[in-house]
Amino acid sequence: MENGVILVAQRYLKLAAIYFTVGVLLGMVMGIIHDFRLTSVHAHFNLLGWVSMALFGLIYHFYPGAGQTKLAKTHFWLHNIGLPIMQISIALQITTENMAFLPITIVSSLLVVIGVILFTINLFQQVRPTPAP
Ligand code: HEM
Ligand code: HEM
Repeated sequence: MENGVILVAQRYLKLAAIYFTVGVLLGMVMGIIHDFRLTSVHAHFNLLGWVSMALFGLIYHFYPGAGQTKLAKTHFWLHNIGLPIMQISIALQITTENMAFLPITIVSSLLVVIGVILFTINLFQQVRPTPAP
């Protein structure tokens, strides 16, 4: 039980750091080659990857019980499957100008959005005042 709690928070923090690295590397490359077509991919790698996942990790560190629920686990997978597919699909859509990627972008974005809704429901159910002893 205790291990599982720590795992969810640690997994989020490590994944956040990976997204941070990829996000800043992409920003650096964009700056070097003066090609800003992938600005939104850079922004969302950093914001949905680094910032959001670091917050999920810290939240589950401070509210360990909340990270143990089925909602939290489902959210974890929706975010971590949806986000990379969404960003790769958007990047391919922009660079190849092929609209065939649009349905993949839509479905993967929806996975992330549904995950965020589950995260919100989970926090409302799990984060509450502790009963007086
Ligand atoms: C060394 C690290 C970073 C580099 C080299 C970098 C580089 C860039 C570049 C070149 C752009 C495009 C600017 C333009 O279109 O004029 C950009 C945009 C952006 N970056 Fe970064 N970035 C870095 C870190 C971050 C981080 C950590 C975040 C978020 C936590 C972030 C969020 C954004 C956002 C939201 C935009 C879009 C801004 C807009 O809409 O005008 N960046 N970045
Ligand atoms: C599934 C969730 C999300 C979807 C579907 C989404 C969608 C979009 C779209 C369609 C754009 C316009 C991109 C463009 O002009 O090329 C955009 C821009 C932006 N979004 Fe999001 N977004 C999401 C989550 C977030 C979150 C969580 C943040 C902040 C924490 C955020 C911050 C931004 C910023 C700063 C921009 C401007 C970046 C730029 O100049 O390209 N987004 N988003």
